[in-house]
Amino acid sequence: MRKILITGANGMLAKAVRERFKEDELICTDVEELDITNLEQVENLVQREKPQYIINCAAFTAVDKAEECYDLAEKINADGPRNLALAADAIGTTLVHISTDYVFDGDLDTAKSYTEQDRTAPVTVYGITKRHGEEAVEENCKKYYIFRTAWLYGDGNNFIRTMLKLGKEKEEVSVVNDQHGSPTYSVDLANIIYQAIEKNIPYGIYHATNQGFTTWYELTKKIYEIEKISCYVKPVTSEEFVRPAKRPKNSMLSKEKLLAQGIQIPDWEDAVKRYLQFRDVL
Ligand SMILES: NC(=O)c1ccc[n+]([C@@H]2O[C@H](COP(=O)([O-])OP(=O)(O)OC[C@H]3O[C@@H](n4cnc5c(N)ncnc54)[C@H](OP(=O)(O)O)[C@@H]3O)[C@@H](O)[C@H]2O)c1
Repeated sequence: MRKILITGANGMLAKAVRERFKEDELICTDVEELDITNLEQVENLVQREKPQYIINCAAFTAVDKAEECYDLAEKINADGPRNLALAADAIGTTLVHISTDYVFDGDLDTAKSYTEQDRTAPVTVYGITKRHGEEAVEENCKKYYIFRTAWLYGDGNNFIRTMLKLGKEKEEVSVVNDQHGSPTYSVDLANIIYQAIEKNIPYGIYHATNQGFTTWYELTKKIYEIEKISCYVKPVTSEEFVRPAKRPKNSMLSKEKLLAQGIQIPDWEDAVKRYLQFRDVL
């Protein structure tokens, strides 16, 4: 049994991580128990509990709101991981940190997907602060995994839940068809993290989403097809659906590096079907 500290423990991914690692000894903290932006609190807890792993699920994840709150986003997404990295490194603990496709500008030709070696170039406050978090982990901790994920859904507010609600209420919904990525089930990401730890794969950055690529439009059509919802899905461009934070056109992350380590990664369609089968009643 491993001793594992999970931060941001009431978040969407954290719930799946807690479930996947339930056989281990878990210390689950949300901001009230451990504010990751407070170095003293982080050091005290880590020194006292001496976990073998820290899985950082805490983050400032409101992508549009971040555009107006740089300082707070930087504090949570960059200072927080730095504090955890310093505390982990001091006792030789492994830090598992979660990052995002937003560290890229999303302008890569959609015939290609981003690899871990590709140059980062974030264009939003969220992406910039998440990249700073990656750098803080790389610079301050020897034993770390950074898993970049994208289009996450699970137990919490998410795109699929929103589209199900809209599909039942409306006759037509407009959905962007020029942003490409992999919808990623929190349960599958938690299992990727679990496998990585079990297999003791080499430390470093890994791209971790479900397999296969789609667009938000195609995803919505798939959800309605599975759920037999008759609402018409109208494809629109990003330019027709402007948001405060620019959305990447290409969020496609190559999983070759993880696959080469023998990690099993389910296809996104299979994951969506499982989620729809087991999700909470809306
Ligand atoms: N959701 C996505 O589509 C997506 C895509 C790519 C990458 N990611 C990354 O995946 C990870 C997990 O995302 P998620 O969607 O599960 O996030 P989430 O549901 O928003 O959960 C984040 C948690 O962090 C907590 N938190 C905020 N500030 C904190 C602090 N100072 N100290 C401790 N806890 C704090 C939040 O508490 P409060 O709710 O009380 O603020 C919340 O429980 C994040 O690193 C995110 O950047 C997410």
